[in-house]
Amino acid sequence: MTICDWNWTKLTNRSIAMLVLASMAGMAQAADPALPHLEKRGAATQLMVDGKPFLVLGGELHNTAASSAEYMAAVWPVLNAKMHLNTVLAGIGWNWIEPIEGKYDFSLVDAALAKARSNNLRMVWLWFGSWKNGLSSFAPGWVKADQQRFPRVAIRGGKSLEVLSPLSETNREADARGFAAFLRHLREVDQRHTVIMVQVENEVGVIGDSRDRSAAANAAFAQPVPVALMDYLQKHKDDLLPEFRQVWQVAGFKTVGSWEEVFGQGAKADEVFMGWNYSRYIDRVAEAGKKEYPLPMYVNAWIVQPDDKGPGDYPSGGPQDHMHDIWRAGAPNLDLLSPDIYLPNFMDLAARYSRSGNALFVPESFAGTRGAANAFYAIGQQRAIGYSPFGFEAAPTGLGEPQSAPPPNPEKLPLSEAYDVLSQLSPMILEHQAKGTIAGVQLDRQHPDQQIRLGDYTLNVGLTRNVRTPNVVPDLAGYGLFMATGPGEYVLAGNNVQITFTPATAGPPIAGIALQEAGRFEKGQWVVTRLLGGDDSVLRYDFATVANLNQSGSGVRLSTGERGIQLVHLYRYR
Ligand code: DGJ
Repeated sequence: MTICDWNWTKLTNRSIAMLVLASMAGMAQAADPALPHLEKRGAATQLMVDGKPFLVLGGELHNTAASSAEYMAAVWPVLNAKMHLNTVLAGIGWNWIEPIEGKYDFSLVDAALAKARSNNLRMVWLWFGSWKNGLSSFAPGWVKADQQRFPRVAIRGGKSLEVLSPLSETNREADARGFAAFLRHLREVDQRHTVIMVQVENEVGVIGDSRDRSAAANAAFAQPVPVALMDYLQKHKDDLLPEFRQVWQVAGFKTVGSWEEVFGQGAKADEVFMGWNYSRYIDRVAEAGKKEYPLPMYVNAWIVQPDDKGPGDYPSGGPQDHMHDIWRAGAPNLDLLSPDIYLPNFMDLAARYSRSGNALFVPESFAGTRGAANAFYAIGQQRAIGYSPFGFEAAPTGLGEPQSAPPPNPEKLPLSEAYDVLSQLSPMILEHQAKGTIAGVQLDRQHPDQQIRLGDYTLNVGLTRNVRTPNVVPDLAGYGLFMATGPGEYVLAGNNVQITFTPATAGPPIAGIALQEAGRFEKGQWVVTRLLGGDDSVLRYDFATVANLNQSGSGVRLSTGERGIQLVHLYRYR
């Protein structure tokens, strides 16, 4: 039986009712305020940990780091104490915990949990089960070696890949059993909720062809599109993401037919077919895990790269942003669809993963100054639940050599300094995400200025200019996060940016600065470290020009270090 058959085509009213009841039971457990869960709070969806909203300031370890106590010995002590991470993302291979079928060994899990706790860190485990970067490299040997029992993806020409077929019920159930055992173990040993989320598989999809062409896959592809998928699409027709809706529209909005009749000939239909089958498979794995322990669960996407011509160049059927509707239809047990962003258009991609109620979590991206800017933008502007560069433990920009040691002076890395600021501000950020009174920017030479309406003022944010040459654009990377904390009051944080204010409500047209302080938040309390004014506040001296622009010439300049967080009170004059 293929997954398509298993899933939906035979659903009776009774089994639908049972599914609804089962998922309500899951929700009831997840609603237990003590367990980590996602919660819609005002304008944001937030991750709740121990009954309180939690902002993930994360870092993903190199793939196999958690299997080496020796390597991790130098890493654990710096992550929170020096780099200001509050959460570490670590891979756990299926082959590490179930090297012999049905015999589990959780010693690596327990060792990592103990170290995380003693180093003041939460954890997100990445389940490298059936797939890691599309491949089945972390499947146990007893799975890999028995191709008859655990069928592989076949590509055009008949060759099979070292990739488990998502069309196999045997593959799916073996993975689900291992994952359920892992979650059961976490429930038993983690009453302290050190583990706050789980990633199910890693960057799935077929690479090298647009779809699986194994016998089971071909048979399923010859069947009509499952009724459950068609029902979902019809029910959500007006809310579908435009790029997916267009695929269906171009093929005539058919509500019944083969994959190619409904979604068009060729690679598009193949991709939708794979998306449905991967999402149904992973939903079943997530469901089995949640039944044991309902932690929030997400999948991560290998996103489309600029040179990719079509599905198969990038992993076909993965949760890329244009496939979200299929994943939502196929995997209701997943809480988030997350992007791995290594492309320069971070803002655009982050926005695409913040649509249709998907809360943004970035499990992989850069560290460095670019990473700092990404974190500020994602958290401030897209109300992300968290950010996590890849390989941060071993290299200043992430993506370093997997075996290298932590860099010297880890506390001085740009992302460590940015996380220091974000961790001080976390309670306030979470409050303002929910209120919708927060914004974030990232700026560079190509995008040196941005205007943002926040509270009763427009914030004119730009890369920090020289006071004497205010029209010369510097070659800097700047970022900022801004919160409207009261009438005419703002808390501003960032680096390499300057801000002036323009009143956005009726009244005197010019904003001046009544009070400007630099400081730190200690246990949530604002501690002033310097009273700012004079050279700290003047942004330009061409007063006649700025007066004509209804500006005072003064503003806020943010830079890492003592000027990294500032509080201003504004007043207005004419
Ligand atoms: C993306 C993967 O998801 C990670 O596990 C890792 O392999 C990185 N790529 C390395 O670039």
